[in-house]
Amino acid sequence: MMKADSIAVLGLQWGDEGKGKVIDFLSESCHAVARFGGGANAGHTIVVNGEKFILKLLPSGILHEDKLCFIGSGVACDPEVLETEISELGKRGIPTGGRIFIDYGTHLVLPLHKVSDGVLDASRGKGALDTTKKGIGPAFADRASRIGIRVADIFDRQALALKLNTLVNAHESFLTEIHDETFIDQTNLAQDLSHYETLFKSLVTDVGPKIMDLIASGKKVLFEGAQGALLDIDFGSYPYVTSTHTTTGGIFTGLGIPPSYLGSTAGVFKAYMTRVGHGPFPTEITDDFASELREKGGEYGSVTGRPRRVGWLDLVLLSRTINLNGIDKLAITKLDVLDGLDEIYVCESYEIDGRKVSDVPPNHPDFYNARPVYTKLKGWDKPTAGIRELDKLSREARDYLDYITEKIGVPIWLISTGNSRDDTILVGD
Ligand code: IMP
Repeated sequence: MMKADSIAVLGLQWGDEGKGKVIDFLSESCHAVARFGGGANAGHTIVVNGEKFILKLLPSGILHEDKLCFIGSGVACDPEVLETEISELGKRGIPTGGRIFIDYGTHLVLPLHKVSDGVLDASRGKGALDTTKKGIGPAFADRASRIGIRVADIFDRQALALKLNTLVNAHESFLTEIHDETFIDQTNLAQDLSHYETLFKSLVTDVGPKIMDLIASGKKVLFEGAQGALLDIDFGSYPYVTSTHTTTGGIFTGLGIPPSYLGSTAGVFKAYMTRVGHGPFPTEITDDFASELREKGGEYGSVTGRPRRVGWLDLVLLSRTINLNGIDKLAITKLDVLDGLDEIYVCESYEIDGRKVSDVPPNHPDFYNARPVYTKLKGWDKPTAGIRELDKLSREARDYLDYITEKIGVPIWLISTGNSRDDTILVGD
């Protein structure tokens, strides 16, 4: 096969990098978009013609009426969310029929997983992760324990009853503590699941071969990342991470395709940083400026509404996640949120116990003690908001971009200067 005409779009920070907009922008030139990880804990916000869409489970390509959308077995699928998203899009005039495909092996998130998520996180006390409570951790734990319920199970009611029995037994002692057993009532569970039989019958397929066929026949496919590299189950700041691989490797295991089907890899990062939920964040801003930046950037969780923690761009982490993912080109988002600042800080190394360190992985014990060493750059007066050509940016904004590129050695190919699809500067292909 010639080099595959496919592109992955991956988050390089703690999620919420603005991948939705970049994916939507790229979808136009693609035939299909595939989700390989995460679940309804993700929230991709896309603004089309002034209308805002927040997609939690469906690939962002769904907003383009001629694109196919795949959900791989690496995704945890909450059927309730899937059904609601499909019906909401229908109400807003976006037809989805014949365009959505989900793998037989995709695990289902059930009500008991969402309850378990809350109970488990609360039981961690001060060490709580502050999860999204969308049932992601428990659903993936059941997958690993081989007691999970998958899409294919819905079609065999007898076998499903046995599997539900095992699942409920595993969760029961834990969940009865909260004195509400409705969510572990097996009759209810079986009935709820049979409700989705018709929906899944129209969507279910063997995703990997379908994607391979498309790529082999010259059709371009986009692999849509969810969350960000620093939330990867192994390479993020464990345990303050999500339960899937959010990095390149997750594409292959989450869709069932080999690496030769990946053409290029684009990484998305925000011009500053945010994190929602607990865990280390070396460049976090803790003074009054934090709320100013949060308001200006609209930094509230799109799924949970939680205020996001905000901080300066951390090049130590960015370099690491670029290497980890094998990123070919970069998209920087929300540059306009930094408009009007006198100075901008960028972290280029850490100080740990008096030592200067320029590469500490987020899963290293020292990471918790890393203090950022900043370079101070000049801010800009002339707004970048809505600018669509590179040479219309102020000298200082260009300097900021050039500084980042020089430090990390990977070209910036897309600059986002606003919410809308059109507020975008393209630098090269
Ligand atoms: P979980 O994925 O719901 O288990 O949450 C684990 C951690 O990942 C929490 O800190 C969440 O806030 C964070 N998280 C999960 N999904 C996203 C996302 O899409 N954006 C940002 N943070 C996320």
